[in-house]
Amino acid sequence: MGTSRSMVLVSLLFSLFLLLSVSKTRAQRPQTEFTFRGFKGNESEIRIAGGAATIKPDGLLRLTNRDSNVTGTAFYHKPVRLHKTNTNSTNATIRSFSTSFVFVIIPSSSSNGGFGFTFTLSPTPNRPNAGSAQYLGVLNKDNNGDPRNHVFAVEFDTVQGARDDTDRIGNDIGINFNSRTSDMQEPVVYYLNDDLTKKEDFQLESGNPIQARIDYDGPTQTLNVTVYPARLAFKPTKPLISQKVPKLLNIMQEEMYVGFTAATGKDQRSAHYIMGWSFSSGAIAKTLNLSELPPPPPNTAKNRGFNSHIIVLIVASSAVLLIMLVLLFFFVMYKHRLQQEDVLEDWEIDHPRRFRYRDLYVATDGFNETGIIGTGGFGTVFKGKLPNSVQIAVKKIIPNSMQGVREFVAEIESLGKLRHLNLVNLHGWCKHKKDLLLIYDYIPNGSLDSLLYTVPRRSGAVLSWNARFQIAKGIASGLLYLHEEWEQIVIHRDVKPSNVLIESNMNPRLGDFGLARLYERGSLTQTTALVGTIGYMAPELARNRKPSSASDVFAFGVLLLEIVSGRKPTDSGNFFLADWVMELEMNGEINSAIDPRLGSSYDDGEARLALAVGLLCCHQKPESRPSMRVVLRYLNGDEDVAEIEDDWGFSKSSRSDFGSKFVGYVSSSSITSSFVTRVSSTSHISNSG
Ligand SMILES: *[C@@H]1O[C@H](CO)[C@@H](O)[C@H](O)[C@H]1NC(C)=O
Ligand SMILES: *[C@@H]1O[C@H](CO)[C@@H](O)[C@H](O)[C@H]1NC(C)=O
Ligand SMILES: *[C@@H]1O[C@H](CO)[C@@H](O)[C@H](O)[C@H]1NC(C)=O
Ligand SMILES: *[C@@H]1O[C@H](CO)[C@@H](O)[C@H](O)[C@H]1NC(C)=O
Ligand SMILES: *[C@@H]1O[C@H](CO)[C@@H](O)[C@H](O)[C@H]1NC(C)=O
Ligand SMILES: *[C@@H]1O[C@H](CO)[C@@H](O)[C@H](O)[C@H]1NC(C)=O
Repeated sequence: MGTSRSMVLVSLLFSLFLLLSVSKTRAQRPQTEFTFRGFKGNESEIRIAGGAATIKPDGLLRLTNRDSNVTGTAFYHKPVRLHKTNTNSTNATIRSFSTSFVFVIIPSSSSNGGFGFTFTLSPTPNRPNAGSAQYLGVLNKDNNGDPRNHVFAVEFDTVQGARDDTDRIGNDIGINFNSRTSDMQEPVVYYLNDDLTKKEDFQLESGNPIQARIDYDGPTQTLNVTVYPARLAFKPTKPLISQKVPKLLNIMQEEMYVGFTAATGKDQRSAHYIMGWSFSSGAIAKTLNLSELPPPPPNTAKNRGFNSHIIVLIVASSAVLLIMLVLLFFFVMYKHRLQQEDVLEDWEIDHPRRFRYRDLYVATDGFNETGIIGTGGFGTVFKGKLPNSVQIAVKKIIPNSMQGVREFVAEIESLGKLRHLNLVNLHGWCKHKKDLLLIYDYIPNGSLDSLLYTVPRRSGAVLSWNARFQIAKGIASGLLYLHEEWEQIVIHRDVKPSNVLIESNMNPRLGDFGLARLYERGSLTQTTALVGTIGYMAPELARNRKPSSASDVFAFGVLLLEIVSGRKPTDSGNFFLADWVMELEMNGEINSAIDPRLGSSYDDGEARLALAVGLLCCHQKPESRPSMRVVLRYLNGDEDVAEIEDDWGFSKSSRSDFGSKFVGYVSSSSITSSFVTRVSSTSHISNSG
């Protein structure tokens, strides 16, 4: 303590001497500005003290190693002048300053790191007699809280607890004036730029590089502190802490040293590293670019003990379980009376959000195979349940050619804004290593596919005519929204029964829209991969591979004929549904096209209408197909169905177009094996509700 004060005195006298001898215009002193991208070759500009601090040969500044009870400090060798006296010498102010640094904390084990480090303004370029552990190498138990310290510290605290004995894991940033007790403390998070109310938490002790930025604005006396993982592609604009700190005026002396201190405890021990550091008085310090810094130290932390996060998780999930049980009771009663759609309504948020992988992992029971409800060309679909007991479908996209994550994210964000009664809502996404995960509504009734072809679900009845007609109109309305009613034209590209999910009130929801484009973007080749499903692909796709709303209309036409007839679009032979219906139409036997399983319980007018519209949509020439708007008008009876022209000529030309490119296009089952990489048979949600 005594030496500390005499040091202060000596340095004060020294600076006074300098002042008198060197400069007369002290207010005009040049600003201090520096940037260290690693500290190699800059050893002389950094003053190291305290047992554990050192500059490593690779240029990393290590404040402490993982020994017990050690401290380390590193200060810039020259003092900075932040005190500004006005000309009439009455009121002093503090000059703006700004600093940015990238640090890494590697705990001895993830539950046993400590104690943290600080960015400190100090009258001396070292902290003599500073204590370890909770004193963080800044103060000691004798001078703690003493206004004569003239110490300001922003602490990066990894051990929680104001009292000396507590040693819970902490993860906070604190602002300290002359004391190890923070005036203000905030748990570590960063805010997202696109929605400033959203924040992500992360661990200081992760072993990964973290960028910190401390900006002090003199005129407003505001101190901002921002921390974020250095790997982030963006720089958060909203600071974690933005606080007026008039107290700083009492701390500040004519000359102050800037630097870092760190300490370990008896058992809580972390190595604290600074990879790079920039500082500026009067201007904004340079943000450091991770790629220009020396490589981070290897993360040698021992693996997880039973840390408090897991405990929190367990406590939280038991609480959630209890709530879920209560909710379940109400839900079951509710479900009996009301329809599923209403339950899903509180989901109708307007933006897809980023889910944490951890949450999805928990929701899907670790992507358990028993939770798989569908597989297909784009990936595997898992059923999951969020802690708030909302059920979700998680699609894990096959990662083979995923590139340009940022573009995907933009695309997904845009797809997520699509909201329509007849579309499966996309709620969010998650990027984990190479996997891209998409989170959708879970729709329990299964796909149209299964309703049309598998053994009837309830009460042994086939899908009724009314339901079929309602489903057809619903799909048309969903497609119309994609094609015309949203701000961008979205081509679905893979309209087929297995992509139509049916809610319990028989409302259809179209899934997987936009995925084809997403997938195509990821493909390595410049040429557009052909995405679609045999039997639903319009003939022109074989020639130009340019999907359009007209090719969606074609697929819808096939689907419509399928809904009415209950027959698949192709079989292994020469059967092609549209040809078959057309032939029946020409022979005046159109009623034979109607699903015989319906018996006589269908509306003749509606069925004939649907068949006619289906045939129109399957027109060989894309320009002769109606738009989805017109299709919907036809189906609603608002407009009479146009005559089918004589040169409709579906059969020959369309078949030969495909035949020349894909041998035997009509045979979906035999061809898929050879085209499976390009022609997807997208996922479907099977019965499980
Ligand atoms: C660090 O050292 C290099 C080379 O010795 C020198 O060019 C650079 O100016 C130094 N950086 C600072 C901030 O002093
Ligand atoms: C570390 O410091 C604490 C208290 O300051 C003391 O009880 C302990 O013995 C010290 N441990 C070592 C290894 O010096
Ligand atoms: C000097 O102080 C007086 C009041 O104490 C104030 O009115 C005046 O604006 C100050 N002058 C400057 C240049 O700051
Ligand atoms: C100087 O400080 C005094 C008291 O804090 C205040 O009343 C006065 O307005 C200040 N003057 C200036 C120029 O800031
Ligand atoms: C501090 O943060 C606030 C709030 O975001 C901002 O308005 C202000 O400009 C920031 N100040 C500095 C010095 O960065
Ligand atoms: C970081 O450095 C790399 C390589 O020098 C450069 O490509 C990149 O644009 C830089 N990033 C920023 C944000 O300056």
